[in-house]
This record gives sequence, C-alpha cells and structure tokens, in this order.
Amino acid sequence: MIPLRGATGVRRLGGGTGVDADRLLSRIRDYGAMGRDETGGVTRPGFSEADRIARSRLAREAREAGLDASVDAAGNLLIRRRTSDGEPARGPVLLLGSHLDTVVNGGTLDGAYGVLAALEVLQVLTETGTDTPFEVVVVAFANEEGALYPQPFWGSMALTGRLAELPAEPVDHQGRSLREPLALAGGDLSALGSAVWSPDSLVGYLELHIEQGPVLESGGQTIGVVDAITGRTVLDVEMRGEAGHAGTTPMPLRRDAMSAAARAVVATEELARERELCRVATVGRLEAHPNSPNTIAETVRFTADLRDSDPTRLREAETALRRELDGITAETGVRAEVRPAVRVEPVSTDPGLREAISAGADELGLPWTVLPSGAGHDAQVVADIAPVGMVFVPSTGGLSHVPTEHTDPQDLLAGADVLLRTALWLAEPDRTGEER
Ligand code: GLV
Ligand code: MN
Ligand code: MN
Repeated sequence: MIPLRGATGVRRLGGGTGVDADRLLSRIRDYGAMGRDETGGVTRPGFSEADRIARSRLAREAREAGLDASVDAAGNLLIRRRTSDGEPARGPVLLLGSHLDTVVNGGTLDGAYGVLAALEVLQVLTETGTDTPFEVVVVAFANEEGALYPQPFWGSMALTGRLAELPAEPVDHQGRSLREPLALAGGDLSALGSAVWSPDSLVGYLELHIEQGPVLESGGQTIGVVDAITGRTVLDVEMRGEAGHAGTTPMPLRRDAMSAAARAVVATEELARERELCRVATVGRLEAHPNSPNTIAETVRFTADLRDSDPTRLREAETALRRELDGITAETGVRAEVRPAVRVEPVSTDPGLREAISAGADELGLPWTVLPSGAGHDAQVVADIAPVGMVFVPSTGGLSHVPTEHTDPQDLLAGADVLLRTALWLAEPDRTGEER
C-alpha cells in the first residue's frame, strides 16, 4: 500500500453536501431496465448483449460528464478524470466500483449500485474541483457473477493477474468461446496480461454494495462496515453415464447420470446442513444431456458452491464432497469429473479503510455496525494486491439474486454519501497512513 502521505488537501464539502440524489437514483432506475426480463427481474450476464448495452451507456455518460472511459483487455470498464491537457490522469489510484453484470433473473442493485454510486462520487469530486492526493478511478468489473461465462470474478482476477491459472480459451456453458464476446465488449483475450495492475499502483479499493442479507435491516442500522468476506469454492462437476432407452434398458444395466447427479446434489447440501463442514453449500445450476424425458441421461453437469470463513473448513468440505463423489461413482458406474471453477480465500478488509468508512458514517450521523459478508465480491480478489474496504446498505427482507431485490432509496443515498465521505476522509492532509 502507498501510505497516504503528502496529501495536497481537499476543498471540504460543506456539512450537508453529498451526492446528487436525483442523478444517482434515476441512473439506478435506468440501468435496472437494461436486461429486464419477462418476470420483472434483470438478466444481464457478463458479456451478454444487455451487459454490453449497460457498459456502453456508462462509458458514454462518463464521457458526457467530461471523464475518460476506457476498457482493458479483460473487459473492465475504467473511468477516470482527465488532466487539464485532456489526457487521462495517472497516479496512485483509489479504486471505487463493483460490477454491472447480474445473475440470471436477478435484481437491479447487486453490483450496479456500487458502480453507479462510484461514478456519482467521481462526478461530485470533479464538479467541486476537489483535489485528492491519489487519483480516484471508477471500475465496472467484467463478469463478476459468472452467469454465462463460468468464471466469476473474471475482471478482478484479470486485474490481479490470476487469470493466468485459467484455460487459454475460456468457453461458456455451451462451449462457445469468450473471444468474440470479449472483443465486442472492447477486450482482447490475447492481451489479458496488459490488464494486470501492480500493487504499487493502488492506494486501495472501496466497494459499496447492498448487504444481500438481513443483518442491517433487522438491527436498524443504515451502514455496514465489512470486516471479512467469506471464502468460496465452486466446483464444476460433470457426471458421465450412458444414454439409453428409458423403456427398454433394465435397471441393473443402467449407468444413469441423472440419478447419480441427484445423489451428488443431496450430498452437497448435506455437507453444510447435516455435517456442518462448511457454512453453506449450494447446487444452483444443473444441466442434463440429452435432457429428454424418455432417454437415460448421458451427462449431467452441475456446480457445487461451498462457502465458509475458515479456509481449512472450506478445504475439508471440498475433500468430503470429492469422497462422496468417489463413492457414488463406485456404486453407479457413472464417472465424475471435478474441475475447480473458483477458489477464493476468505479475506479481511483493511483496518485503515474500515476506520475511514466508519468516520464517514459518523460525519453523516448514520448508524453503522461491523459485519462480515456472506456473499462473494470483487473486493476479495483485489485484496491479493491492495487494501480493500466494503460498505454495505440494508437489503429489504435480506433478499438478493432475485427480482424483488430492494433497498430504500434513502439508504442507497446514505451509502453513496458514505463512499464520498470515505474518499474525502482518506484525502485529508493529516491522513498519514498512521493511526489517528
Ligand atoms: C456473488 O454474487 C456471490 O455469489 O456471492
Ligand atoms: Mn451477486
Ligand atoms: Mn455483487
């Protein structure tokens, strides 16, 4: 981390000044219409057409606001101020952002809120002529959810140099290469190395997000200061049996990938529910081939998403699942192939950034509390190379990844104001990187 020394000072915003409420709330509404599906949810998977529309719109709005917008090789959209000679500014960066892509049939706030609030903060800093000792850059990370191209945290993994661990030609669930959709988004699969940032270039990363759980709402708090983000392992499992006629193949002669997968799905849930080896375990996606009512399934692919804040428990849960799969394979003759799609360690947020966030909330008189995140975030990947901080606002009913995802507009504004205050607090001349 670059210590926050040598600050040039900021022009302090007056007590009540904050983000532009109408601009932020109307943007949140507008982006919620991009990828709107027939159930009223938002389906805007990373690198889909709807995602492209949202990203181009954001780049255009940033340029209209006099900012510089560019896309790196991984498809991350980066927005920064221009210097007086019209060039994008370059300096140690305080990165603010989140992601614009969504899950299938998700809501309007997961990700987009953090990106749009970050842009709002950058616009306010620019409009008020506020100087900061670091460059404030907004990022819309590409493909955080991995809904279509099954590499969640794609953009943040690119930024931190972790995409090198992946196959050279990533494909979607139907085997279609990412190369062209990435190029359409402005990226370049052959140049991913150029998207890597060095740790020296970053002062820190701040991500504002809806909580996606019930803690803030039930405790009557407006702001959550995240202290840790859960660890997560996602396994891609393919069970391969033998297709056959559903009416003529006697039961003892079958190698049915569907029934073997069903056992594996139950075993996955039991890891958390019965055996308490990890906090939660979920099979959220499953695909059968040929998926025909009167044909025995030949292959079934599913994902097992395991989460815990203790990396040892997470590893043990994975080992236990692999053992269960071995047992199912031995009993059924259906083969199982397991490929780790995601392995992100639990991380702690940076104490200095936590202090800055809580100071921001205090300045605004907002009730806040410290809590962990059970959801995954780009912040935990960026933590590989930089101090990270996360701000949460309440989620109505604790719901997320569903069309009914909602947060009170006053809370959305409060979170954005805290993000602004946090950036300003970090920019003050006496922020020397030492304890206050
Ligand atoms: C990210 O959205 C996650 O699944 O936690
Ligand atoms: Mn999400
Ligand atoms: Mn998210």
